[in-house]
Amino acid sequence: VAPASRATVVSNTTVFRLYGEPIVSSLRESGYDVDVATVQEGERYKTLESAAGLYEALTSYMAQRWDPIIALGGGVIGDLAGFAAGTYMRGVPLVHVPTTLLAQVDSSIGGKTAVNLPEGKNLVGMFYQPKLIVTDVDVLRTLSKKCVVSGLAEVLKYGFLEGRDLIGFLEANLADILALRPRQMRQVVAWCSKIKARVVSQDERDEGARAVLNFGHTIGHALEKLRGYGSYEHGEAVSIGMAAEAIIGTKVGLSDDRTATDVVRLLARAGLPLRIPASSAVEVAKLIRLDKKARDRQMRFVLLRHIGEPVVTTVAEDKVVSVLGQVNHIVDRLL
Ligand SMILES: NC(=O)c1ccc[n+]([C@@H]2O[C@H](COP(=O)([O-])OP(=O)(O)OC[C@H]3O[C@@H](n4cnc5c(N)ncnc54)[C@H](O)[C@@H]3O)[C@@H](O)[C@H]2O)c1
Ligand SMILES: [Zn+2]
Repeated sequence: VAPASRATVVSNTTVFRLYGEPIVSSLRESGYDVDVATVQEGERYKTLESAAGLYEALTSYMAQRWDPIIALGGGVIGDLAGFAAGTYMRGVPLVHVPTTLLAQVDSSIGGKTAVNLPEGKNLVGMFYQPKLIVTDVDVLRTLSKKCVVSGLAEVLKYGFLEGRDLIGFLEANLADILALRPRQMRQVVAWCSKIKARVVSQDERDEGARAVLNFGHTIGHALEKLRGYGSYEHGEAVSIGMAAEAIIGTKVGLSDDRTATDVVRLLARAGLPLRIPASSAVEVAKLIRLDKKARDRQMRFVLLRHIGEPVVTTVAEDKVVSVLGQVNHIVDRLL
């Protein structure tokens, strides 16, 4: 393959204004001709139309098969630019430069790329691994507090899946993490991305082991759909989901009381929401049933036997409905 002579930075206008310049100039210093393609900001631009716009830009720059795409942004840009990189000329090298906490610990790792269709989220995409992920925790400083806390939900998820070492670290350093202290953030991001990389490498195409990463997401996704995407931050919905699923674990006799208590208390300390909105229990259950994860009036969940020991299992639908009805009450008791 010919050595790359040009690179295309894909970003949105907000992120590019903040962090585009140092990337472009360091690439130029290394001898690359650099082009920039920006898309509009937001999940609603994670579409085939935006991907087509990127193909147009790439052809107008005469980007070749070996010329890398640098995805600079959060999960939306990562998924979209990753999809364009995987499909343009049957695949060009991809570099992720993730700029949200969620992107740094989750979406930049594992090779999932996607765009949304009007019919639903992430319906078109492919597995396409980046050649490189370049992460700098300093960029997290310009994120809104809400976005940081939402990303923290995924960080805590890794803790609940991984065990007492990571949870102990997160508990002890929560204030520094919320203040985005670089030393603690570097540790957090390194730790979580290693966990994600390990799980993904056991199951690249999401056919088994990767399912544990869905802790909190069965209920979380249902809440996002119920409320409409955008009304909850993803991490907020996942937080409510983790609290409820930890409680389901207790109620089906799989986990001890301490597990749900620890989950609920740490999420609360991080400032994440825990309660299912009033009267949503039945609707949430209905949505889980419609989800592909549900089979024969059994619903698939990731439950925690203990902190650090997730189990993928099914729970009878009537049990789920009954626990969802009591969940806010139980949360109040555990706090
Ligand atoms: N591929 C995967 O494995 C995977 C996993 C999880 C989520 N996702 C996808 O990720 C997306 C969500 O990603 P997200 O939470 O990063 O949201 P996002 O990409 O929409 O970013 C959130 C907002 O922050 C802005 N932003 C990004 N970095 C910034 C910075 N450093 N300073 C200031 N503002 C900044 C963005 O412009 C955007 O408005 C969803 O589309 C989801 O489907 C993919
Ligand atoms: Zn998630």
